[in-house]
Amino acid sequence: MLGEMGVTVWWPSESNAAVVEAPAVVKAVAAPAVAKPPAVAVAPPPVAKPAAPLGERPAGIAAMDWPQLQTAVSGCTACALARTRTQTVFGVGPVANGEAPPTVDWLVVGEAPGEQEDRQGEPFVGPAGKLLDNMLKAIGLSRRGEAPLKGAYIANVIKCRPPGNRNPAPEEIATCSPYLERQIALLQPKVIIAVGRFAMQALLSDTVPDVATQPLGRLRGRVHRWREVPVVVTYHPAYLLRTPADKAKAWADLCLALATAGAPAAN
Ligand code: URA
Repeated sequence: MLGEMGVTVWWPSESNAAVVEAPAVVKAVAAPAVAKPPAVAVAPPPVAKPAAPLGERPAGIAAMDWPQLQTAVSGCTACALARTRTQTVFGVGPVANGEAPPTVDWLVVGEAPGEQEDRQGEPFVGPAGKLLDNMLKAIGLSRRGEAPLKGAYIANVIKCRPPGNRNPAPEEIATCSPYLERQIALLQPKVIIAVGRFAMQALLSDTVPDVATQPLGRLRGRVHRWREVPVVVTYHPAYLLRTPADKAKAWADLCLALATAGAPAAN
């Protein structure tokens, strides 16, 4: 095509640098005097940003203290959610003297941060969180334990937001679970309330056969165990917002948890 336009073509020969001239027929045609087009800044084609490399989950999670665990979670790059999160969401609860939370009697375990939680770095801050706060208040609890309410710690199975609020994948749950397990071991709750099926599956996978295929409705209403710690399963508040008729069952679950942990005394 360049030859057709009267432009001499340079072509690498086998000896690596020989000049190949345009064919004679082309040379005979005088190159038309074409005004040189003005230089145009051509943007280079967009190049896909290389995905940040993923790392290993830190070793020794089961022996970490609370600050070490927080640091491990905030720097975790063990799965692809690290590439899309704004920040990790570790959990929220009553804090003693601005330090690590003391042991708590109550632990609520949800699924994973949503969009607002990812932005604010705290679990259950959206509309479902408001309902959760109201449910906790009804049994004398709150996430920060302001008197006369008693503190309940709130954490999720997954510490990073799944993009588009999709369900967490089984391998993401498996990768993230050791963080929750260490949180439970350090907090030493008297009862865990598992809200929603992903919390239920993560906490009961060792004790309930085929838990992944069990409907939540079949496992609620009784006390299960996660390594000796009583677990009460109930509906996720986001589900209750869509299905208010089931709020009565959730209330019954809270009453069961209350009977299991003993009535909360003020902090
Ligand atoms: N849903 C959850 O399960 N956890 C949150 O933190 C927010 C919404």
